[in-house]
Amino acid sequence: MRKPYLAGNWKMNLDRASSLALAGALREHVGQRNDVEVAVAPPFVYLPAVVEALEGSPIRVGSQNMCDQAKGAFTGEVSGAMLRDVGATFAILGHSERRHVYGEPDALVNAKVHHALEVGLDVILCVGETIEEREAGETEKVVRRHLTEGLAGVDGLSKITIAYEPVWAIGTGLNATPEQAGEVHTYLRGVLEGLFGERAAETTRIQYGGSVKPGNIAELMAVDGVDGALVGGASLEAESFAGIVDFDK
Ligand code: 13P
Repeated sequence: MRKPYLAGNWKMNLDRASSLALAGALREHVGQRNDVEVAVAPPFVYLPAVVEALEGSPIRVGSQNMCDQAKGAFTGEVSGAMLRDVGATFAILGHSERRHVYGEPDALVNAKVHHALEVGLDVILCVGETIEEREAGETEKVVRRHLTEGLAGVDGLSKITIAYEPVWAIGTGLNATPEQAGEVHTYLRGVLEGLFGERAAETTRIQYGGSVKPGNIAELMAVDGVDGALVGGASLEAESFAGIVDFDK
């Protein structure tokens, strides 16, 4: 049984006061609920404050990115150990904005995955095709490559969640239809099974991300194989993220 996993990726939004207000409101809303897993990924600089604001809450706090190196002359980067040090428990890696805006290749994403696991961070590994790739019939090829190369050399999936985020659905208001999400999630689980075996594939959660809102979360979560959501814009306000967390109410 895969517990639904709803995570908010705040991207480069909010400020200290609004981050704390949002964390506080979510804390109150989620209470000690444990039938769903809820997580937030604030900007690096607000991580310690948000961790503190959520102490004692089951809501997990993680980062949106991470350096692949442990320490040293890497100006502007943040290490996995630093993230652990301030209380983060997971890192989102391979997000499409990292891949497409900042040119992160699969090999770098893979190095980050390894480093995160080494320091004890869980990982949300993002995969997804652009509209050009979808229209060229390359969706499966692209997400297979993201998975296979992103997870190369990884021993097991117990610390890993996959997020299927079609690039054309991110921030556009145009979410994948339940059918489109279902097709890709089924395909991804098959790839995971080939790589890690049936049991690992069955227990690994695959989130959907891309224009998730309170109004479409129920139909997406109803799809076999959709185990949660990675939410951008709609995670920035307590009311809309709460509506996503409460998808089955
Ligand atoms: P939106 O929910 O704003 O489309 O963003 C999705 C996303 O990129 C989450 O990581």
